[in-house]
Amino acid sequence: MKSQSLEKPFSDVELDQRAIAILRENEWGGYTLPTRGLYPFQWNWDSMFVALGFSEFDLERAWTEVETLFQGQWQNGMAAHIVFRRDDPSYFPGPSIWVSGQNPSTSGCSQPPVAATVVRDLYEKDPEIGLARLKEIFPRLMAWHRWFHMMRVISGGAAIAVTHPWESGRDNSPDWDRALSNVDPSGIADYTRKDTGHVDPSMRPTNEEYDRYLKLVEYGRETGWDHARITREGPFAVADPGVTFILMRADRDLLELAKVLGAQDSAHEITTWLYHAEEAADYLWSERLGAYAARDLRTDDSATGVSSVAFLSYYAGISIPRRDARLQATLRRILEVSKYSIPSFDPEHSRFDSKRYWRGPVWVIINYIVARGLAEYGFEREANRIRLDTREIIRGSGFYEYFDPICGSGAGGGHFAWTAAIWLAWASPMTD
Ligand code: DGY
Repeated sequence: MKSQSLEKPFSDVELDQRAIAILRENEWGGYTLPTRGLYPFQWNWDSMFVALGFSEFDLERAWTEVETLFQGQWQNGMAAHIVFRRDDPSYFPGPSIWVSGQNPSTSGCSQPPVAATVVRDLYEKDPEIGLARLKEIFPRLMAWHRWFHMMRVISGGAAIAVTHPWESGRDNSPDWDRALSNVDPSGIADYTRKDTGHVDPSMRPTNEEYDRYLKLVEYGRETGWDHARITREGPFAVADPGVTFILMRADRDLLELAKVLGAQDSAHEITTWLYHAEEAADYLWSERLGAYAARDLRTDDSATGVSSVAFLSYYAGISIPRRDARLQATLRRILEVSKYSIPSFDPEHSRFDSKRYWRGPVWVIINYIVARGLAEYGFEREANRIRLDTREIIRGSGFYEYFDPICGSGAGGGHFAWTAAIWLAWASPMTD
């Protein structure tokens, strides 16, 4: 599939209508596929951004999206990164590779926990519709957050680890290169990739990366998905600013929801999680980069370049004056060299690749959460720039999975649900 621009320019009203049509065409009963073909199941954070999109025109349906995601929640609290429910030969690795032992079948790791933040947004849109549904979902959110704080933190630490690049949602970011190179892929079972049959391989992770992704799945499966053990001694554990800051924000939103429900014990528990927030930020701060950066928990090495999630600290409620000036300077530098913000990896770094998945392209979901945090801290100019770039890129290329930050062309899957959702919830002029 070639990257594309829209053949004829659509008006903003037409784009609003197309975005709604994309959400509807990807609906599969009570849940939504990221896009047909490439991703034929329910993905965790995709679904939550999709709920935000639905909430613009069908709030009941938005709540249903959240509820169906939690049908795949494990007894130990984890909300899985994929809820399969059925097999589909067009995707690899499917349920028979993960062997999660769950019903419905799921993958064995999690994904960035945006759900509590989205649930708060849905509830606040209409508390009358939302209250009963909030009461049902709240304990599930608590259990999931507890799982992260217990299962993805190495003793003595506070930043949240990912134990598979897929858990970060940023699969092939250069943030994982070094740690992944320490994963020995020898002995993995033969397999055939399916993703490169749907999308131009130059836009996807490499085979070398895939071998290691599969090795990590095999390892997890062999432990019987013992999450504590995987984090403690598995082949890959990297503290991720993306998941750490997204969870921190979600903890704060969950705390507000606990207050709505008068759930004092939960509020107290969440406060203990947040008590370690600055400590987690300290661990992730890289003085050398002037930004927050991923850090390998096995070797203590920090990432060598700046990823867009570095700027999620504001979204997380972290603002440390002695660092913010440097972080802002880093952001300004990256915005200056990017025609379209925000590249997922520093365009001035040797590992930047404008088209390959998480090694450079713009992802509108990240734009939305980074800009939301910046606006909340008064960085209106930067937040506005990111929002208008998002609008322009979608106007020019349509609803792609991700976009080239240099020329703005669309890449990866087309008719992409989260891009349509972000248009409806934030980027369309309708939301001005
Ligand atoms: C994929 O299959 O590419 C997904 O990103 C894994 O979650």
